[in-house]
Amino acid sequence: MGTAIWRPDLATGVAEIDRQHEELLANVTMLRSAARTGQVGMAELVLTFLERYAAEHFASEERAMWQAGYPDLDAHWSLHLAFATELARRKAEYQESPSPADLLLEMGMWMDRWLEDHVLGPDAAMARFLRGHDARLAGPAPRAPSTRPTPPSAA
Ligand SMILES: [Fe+2]
Ligand SMILES: [Fe+2]
Repeated sequence: MGTAIWRPDLATGVAEIDRQHEELLANVTMLRSAARTGQVGMAELVLTFLERYAAEHFASEERAMWQAGYPDLDAHWSLHLAFATELARRKAEYQESPSPADLLLEMGMWMDRWLEDHVLGPDAAMARFLRGHDARLAGPAPRAPSTRPTPPSAA
């Protein structure tokens, strides 16, 4: 697929995470279109933003997983780390490249695919756990007040 456009099936049901994913995808779209039209300076600005925003987003997911005691935190954290490592590798490659717009476009396409797979897979699983955790924290639904008359106290 790789459309980098927000779609309802990407929603995890955790509002803050969904808002951040939407922001990430909107910026990937911007990166791709700037690269496609040869606006290298613009694409670089968006890339710098994306790098920082992705790091903040990952940190906020990791915080939420930690607080909720998510059992797959380590595996999820490794995926985030792999993304950051690959992005750094691609940036270094880009800085050496004789055709920067092509590499920026490729970077945008890679990011697009990665985000979509990550949101639909590990993020969706994490969000299911977080939603369950919130529900557990809220506790059982309050019971309706008893209508049973209070027995008279023994005299
Ligand atoms: Fe995410
Ligand atoms: Fe994630």
